[in-house]
Amino acid sequence: MRVVSGIQPTGNLHLGNYLGAIKQWVAMQDAMGADDVCLFFLADLHAISLPVVPSELANATVEMTATLLACGIDPERSILFNQTRVPAHSELAWLLNGTARMGWLNRMTQWKDKAGKNREGSSVALFDYPVLQAADVLLYQATHVPVGEDQKQHLELARDIATKFNLDYGTELFTLPEPFVSKAAPRIMSLRDGGAKMSKSDPSDLSRINLIDSDDTIVSKIKKAKSDADVLPSDVAGLDGRPEAKNLVTIYAALADIAPADVVAQFGGQGFGQFKPALADLAVAKLGPIRNRLTRLLDDRAAVAGALERGAEKARSLAAPTLRAAQQAIGL
Ligand code: ADP
Ligand code: NA
Repeated sequence: MRVVSGIQPTGNLHLGNYLGAIKQWVAMQDAMGADDVCLFFLADLHAISLPVVPSELANATVEMTATLLACGIDPERSILFNQTRVPAHSELAWLLNGTARMGWLNRMTQWKDKAGKNREGSSVALFDYPVLQAADVLLYQATHVPVGEDQKQHLELARDIATKFNLDYGTELFTLPEPFVSKAAPRIMSLRDGGAKMSKSDPSDLSRINLIDSDDTIVSKIKKAKSDADVLPSDVAGLDGRPEAKNLVTIYAALADIAPADVVAQFGGQGFGQFKPALADLAVAKLGPIRNRLTRLLDDRAAVAGALERGAEKARSLAAPTLRAAQQAIGL
């Protein structure tokens, strides 16, 4: 298996990012056999499809990398790098632009959503983004690409581009990547509003647990989390219509690596006065060590940059033969 997955660099990551994205990567890395390879990259080239503040982008790349390392991505076992440092991503994307069709890109729902009514004013990169994504995975002959619901259409497009390229140039160069559905990633909701996603863009800091939060802050945010006056049910169906209760159970389950059903089996009949302290203890036990590693890494940004650079070196040597073969297939 060769798994390739990217994430856009952002700073100040939160519990939702950890449980919904990063923890899934760590699980994939840990499930790999001796002949398998995981490539994880920071999609800093994708970031410029929307306006960026240069100093913030540079910081976000370092912070995101530090966070991935702190959460358990091991740069000795996985190849961790940022796109910019592997120019073959951009080069292959250009070659694939010769194969991708305008009509295919026009059908991408994410482009329609992100451009909204301002299509004429949006960047060409926003439109072309799925072609760069195709290059990201085809470049490494990825066999499996972890995808959420919103990315399925882009992976399908990558397969269409690979198929047409192989056909047009009479080659079998590109492997068609399969979608890889890892253990369903939980969707974590705001601690203040069970109807909203936990997000860094929520103006209320009480709505989320940041991975950099101190133990005391974690405890206090869980104490202040919105809940209800009822006791926990003893089966998960009893959480329907109780979004805040359901979210706290989801968080407990994801942190403990157990099913929500096991959480309610254990805590059913207890009120939040008992459940919240147990959740706070668990959160501190799981997130405290991550924060401590993250704090150390943020104090040693040179080490973080060094890890990225070593990852990029490995990625460049894996990418080179495929890029060269693609050029040759075209007659370049
Ligand atoms: P934010 O919504 O805070 O801006 P991003 O959009 O940068 O987060 O998401 C980065 C990654 O984290 C994506 O893979 C996304 O699916 C995941 N993610 C973000 N928020 C949540 C959440 N509340 N629950 C689960 N996963 C999340
Ligand atoms: Na977002």
